[in-house]
Amino acid sequence: MNTDPRVQELLEFVAIPSVSAQAAHAVDMGRCADWLVEKLRSLGLDARREETAGNAVVVGKTPRDPAKKTVLIYGHYDVQPPEPLELWTTPPFEPTIREGRIFGRGSSDNKGQILAHILGVGEALAEGTLPVNVIFLIEGEEEIGSKHLAGFLEKHRAELACDAIAISDTGMAVDGYPTLSYGLRGIATMEVRVHGPAQDLHSGIYGGAVANPATAAARLIASLHDTESRVAIEGFYDQVKPLAEWERQAAAESPLTDADIAREAGVEELAGEAGYSGMERIGARPTAEINGLGGGYQGEGSKTVLPAHAFFKISFRLVPDQKPDKILALARRHFEKHRPRGVRLEFIDGHGGEPFMLDPISPEGLAARRALEKVFGKKPALMREGGSIPILTDFQRVLGRPALLLALASPDAKAHAPDENFPIENFLLGIRLNKAVLEELAKV
Ligand code: BES
Ligand code: ZN
Repeated sequence: MNTDPRVQELLEFVAIPSVSAQAAHAVDMGRCADWLVEKLRSLGLDARREETAGNAVVVGKTPRDPAKKTVLIYGHYDVQPPEPLELWTTPPFEPTIREGRIFGRGSSDNKGQILAHILGVGEALAEGTLPVNVIFLIEGEEEIGSKHLAGFLEKHRAELACDAIAISDTGMAVDGYPTLSYGLRGIATMEVRVHGPAQDLHSGIYGGAVANPATAAARLIASLHDTESRVAIEGFYDQVKPLAEWERQAAAESPLTDADIAREAGVEELAGEAGYSGMERIGARPTAEINGLGGGYQGEGSKTVLPAHAFFKISFRLVPDQKPDKILALARRHFEKHRPRGVRLEFIDGHGGEPFMLDPISPEGLAARRALEKVFGKKPALMREGGSIPILTDFQRVLGRPALLLALASPDAKAHAPDENFPIENFLLGIRLNKAVLEELAKV
């Protein structure tokens, strides 16, 4: 058993099932926000819970010294749904330590990192060595698109004014390797419903003469890519900025190889757009992914039915300068153009977020790289990552400051999947990294 009180606190935090996507967990969302407020107050911060039309936002501030710079640290306390439960080695909300890692939903996305930042600030406050003012902004809706946070930023713009923003919600290139994530992809999601006959039909009595919505959905899905795995939607690449030469260089020098990615993903070989490495395809090229599809009989045995409806859910990952709304409009046009005869399409737009880039040679970028090198003893890898944090461009727009993404999750963190985990070593490194980053940012 690990007796480090800091680890015990993380176990307590992860045990709260703060699943933002599921209404049944509304009470747990509130409990989790309260837990954070208590934690921040116990370390000497002025903390409160602010209600929004959705889940509460937690704000915590260290005693303000006007002579010092201010750093805003952002994170999220909501987690992804834990399903499928039967694939977890130990239950998702009964965090367990095995082989030096904490297993539990949210351990590496994003509770481990946010607690590391909180404890780092707490230690510096207690030692009287905190070099900057710190504002924590911890939201409960990141995993469902941060719907209410942009409005919150606008409303509290003056209070949240800062010189830099620090975030740890991305992954290291390889285990134990310092990584500055200087780009994240944007996102645009939609659901397509394919409607056919007024009700399910006997597939022998009608099949062949009436369009099958499941077949139509499959054709539409297949129309999304060409044989080179490029997205076949007209205009999709029009706004895509090509990779700069230095970026291709940085990707080529990365310690993360295609073989590593394949091994982590559990596949024999990688697939995707020709002409790019795995890292480039993930970080710097846009995609169209089917996240779910359904329609027709799903039960035991066979049933000769021609289903009345079918559906599929898509997310597009975007890179500069693609815009979520524009991409969804192009997608709708594409599907209408490829719509098989005899079915009707219905589109339901989901959430969106713009792609994000930080200049890694900006003064803040260099400060983050120095801090990473100091703590890890190695030059950090520069990486564009494939995931999305939609609020980042709002930070830039409303607060006028760039975000520094300091990766702490392990490459096999299994974020959003069963057996999500966070190495205790990364947690303790995170506490040290927090201090180093604040020291470097104080000097910028
Ligand atoms: N921590 C991730 C974002 C991330 C993942 C960045 C991997 C870099 C590498 C975040 O919690 C997340 O999962 N975001 C969602 C956003 C969506 C629900 C709007 C995502 O990327 O799917
Ligand atoms: Zn996530």
